[in-house]
Amino acid sequence: MIELQLADKTHDEERQGEALVIDAPKMINARKLYIESYGCQMNFADSEIVASILLDQGFETTGDYHEADAIFINTCSIRENAEQRVRNRLSQFGIEKRRNPKLIVGVLGCMAERLKSKFLEEEKLVDMVVGPDAYRDLPQLIEQVGEGQKAINVLLSREETYADISPVRLNGNGITAFISIMRGCDNMCSFCVVPFTRGRERSRDPDSILAEALDLHQRGYKEVTLLGQNVDSYKWKGSAEAEDGAEIMVNFAQLLEKVALISPELRIRFSTSHPKDITDEVLYTIKKYDNICNNIHLPVQSGSSRMLDLMNRTYTREWYMNRVDAIRNIIPDCAISTDIIAGFCTETEEDHQETLQMMDYVGYDFAFCFSYSERPGTLAARKLEDDIPEEVKKLRLQEILLKQQVSSLRRLQESVGKTVRILVEGFSKKSDKDLCGRNDQNAMIVFPAADHIKPGQYVNVVIERCTSATLLGRIAD
Ligand code: 5AD
Ligand code: SF4
Repeated sequence: MIELQLADKTHDEERQGEALVIDAPKMINARKLYIESYGCQMNFADSEIVASILLDQGFETTGDYHEADAIFINTCSIRENAEQRVRNRLSQFGIEKRRNPKLIVGVLGCMAERLKSKFLEEEKLVDMVVGPDAYRDLPQLIEQVGEGQKAINVLLSREETYADISPVRLNGNGITAFISIMRGCDNMCSFCVVPFTRGRERSRDPDSILAEALDLHQRGYKEVTLLGQNVDSYKWKGSAEAEDGAEIMVNFAQLLEKVALISPELRIRFSTSHPKDITDEVLYTIKKYDNICNNIHLPVQSGSSRMLDLMNRTYTREWYMNRVDAIRNIIPDCAISTDIIAGFCTETEEDHQETLQMMDYVGYDFAFCFSYSERPGTLAARKLEDDIPEEVKKLRLQEILLKQQVSSLRRLQESVGKTVRILVEGFSKKSDKDLCGRNDQNAMIVFPAADHIKPGQYVNVVIERCTSATLLGRIAD
């Protein structure tokens, strides 16, 4: 039986603030760090770098900010509402700060970079403002605050990749982890603040990526997600490793292959792909290795070539369709997910219809859908008028969401009756009588628990039915 159940929430890639803690024994006399992260997966990965740096300074993490000596909030600037959430949270921390004046409140990440010293002027309770490339400076900045000063470092770097810092895993399930393979973005999409808050694109040394993946595998992790704003433009140039001193080049396809070869038991995911850069070489590498998941996040943003041009995406509707055709030809059962923006500057009803048609053409498995939010300093804010009324944006977004719910359901229905291999991640959120995990295509599967099945195991599950967001099944005989 198939249930048609339309999700009542909008998909939003920004994760709400999450307190991040290390699952480790408590230290004696340690100072306590409460760290909360917002936004993309990259921010969550960065918080693990931050925690690692502070661990070396004698801090341990806590999940309760009332007992913290330092509260860090790792922020997101991608849309106005993301920033508003952070400001609301800061006013809650303000109450704590008035109670305990010695408490250090630090703002990290994209909002810190965007607002710089303005943050210290606007939010009086904030002691410290630290941009995404300045985390190595944290011990010094904390010391400065300890001496009664405000502290700020928002320098962006062309080299920093934190390659040598081994991140501590926060809120980890011990099964899946993120590995950051590059930082920054050179693309300058006209709506996007990221190139300004995270700086120029740089790739991390492949040896340090492989060492991190191998270490995770040896510690029992079963899945790694390689992260970058645009993983397809990953490029490492180096000479140190080559015996004859010749320059070696590693592109994303080659990096994927190297990580895949660590062990067939280690699954690999990656995000985000850019339609202008994803190559057939990458697609053939995914096809070649069973442990590279058949799941590509390929943000389209709009289905209209006119909009794509204004967005400075540097591809057309036809180019995007050609890339989708290549994925379908080379990896027929590949899941494709996307990001869509409704109501970008000058968007007409015809442009919007082209986006809906594109959704029909691709049949996305999943989509993060947003209404356009003008960001100060971006190309669009400087050159284009944010002229689509909020009600129109909202209406178009609703149409996009509705189409996506139908599309997600249709894609999930294709698995009903099939047996799929999944990696068990833990108990289902709704019931501890059920386990859950993801298949290769990143769909969530819920099934009744059994004593012999443990988190971290791969298991075959027969899919019996689905909702628009989840597959439901039973362990195969
Ligand atoms: N308004 C709305 N959505 C945006 N995104 C990026 N900038 C904006 C903006 N100003 C979306 C894009 C991107 C995703 C991470 O966030 O779809 O792919
Ligand atoms: Fe922003 Fe475009 Fe870079 Fe993505 S590729 S981070 S949307 S500028």
